[in-house]
Amino acid sequence: MNNIISYQQLNQRDFDYLRNIIYDEAGIKLSDMKKALVQSRLLRRMREMGISSYDEYCNYLRENYDEEIENLINCITTNKTEFFRESEHFSILQKIVEQELSHKNIAVWSAGCSTGEEAYSIAIVLLESKFNKNFKILATDIDSKVLEIARMGVYPIDAVQTIDINMLKKYFLKGKEQYAGYAKVKDFLKKNISFQHINLLDDNYRLRGYFDIIFCRNVMIYFDKEVQSKVLKKFYDYLPKGGYLFLGYAESIVNINLPFHYVAHSVYQKR
Ligand SMILES: C[S@@+](CC[C@H](N)C(=O)[O-])C[C@H]1O[C@@H](n2cnc3c(N)ncnc32)[C@H](O)[C@@H]1O
Repeated sequence: MNNIISYQQLNQRDFDYLRNIIYDEAGIKLSDMKKALVQSRLLRRMREMGISSYDEYCNYLRENYDEEIENLINCITTNKTEFFRESEHFSILQKIVEQELSHKNIAVWSAGCSTGEEAYSIAIVLLESKFNKNFKILATDIDSKVLEIARMGVYPIDAVQTIDINMLKKYFLKGKEQYAGYAKVKDFLKKNISFQHINLLDDNYRLRGYFDIIFCRNVMIYFDKEVQSKVLKKFYDYLPKGGYLFLGYAESIVNINLPFHYVAHSVYQKR
């Protein structure tokens, strides 16, 4: 018997239905050019479920919205990240910590942390910096699957190749036997980081206190101006006076009406 399922194309009506949901739920704007991407990412989910047409998937979603929406968001988000990505930011971070924050306990938020590389890179920089070493990092993402990976802190060896060899030895364990080919973050590096599921678009999340530094890099790029303004306003409110916001290299706060001051490439300070 032939068990190869043939999949049709995602039609415009179903694409519009899905992209409206993704926009309303996650703030992610999907242009017409993203149709092929949505189609291929959804295919993986449909295969998992044994569903053979996009139409059938959309019907399933309509009928099981509350159970399925998390899976839909998980398969649509783009999670590309790496250790010490956009590395100049980590030198700036160290300078800020040593020159301005060395007298206090530091709180950092990695918003849109994906699989955790950004949060662990921040933790390494803080542990290597000259200050009292009391810090906590909140790392959040809308995608529950990437958060599972972040919490485990186990990465293919290739993903840690760019880390300085001394740092690698100090902060990672080399996997053996069934973990050969993987590196695991040591427990003491995890200790100051908590990973939490947060949708930046959600009006109801409340976080305790302020963050001296917020990283939200390569997340805003998926939002339109309206959503960007809303999210940036929240970051502004969670920063104390003098706090720093790090965006991705390709992101800026141009045309956003908030009193942030430019400090360095995609780094801003609340004054
Ligand atoms: C490309 S990754 C960036 C990861 C990391 N910040 C970096 O720069 O390497 C973007 C992340 O933003 C998350 N994201 C997208 N929309 C979000 C939302 N509404 N709330 C929270 N996280 C979101 C995605 O799930 C994804 O993991």
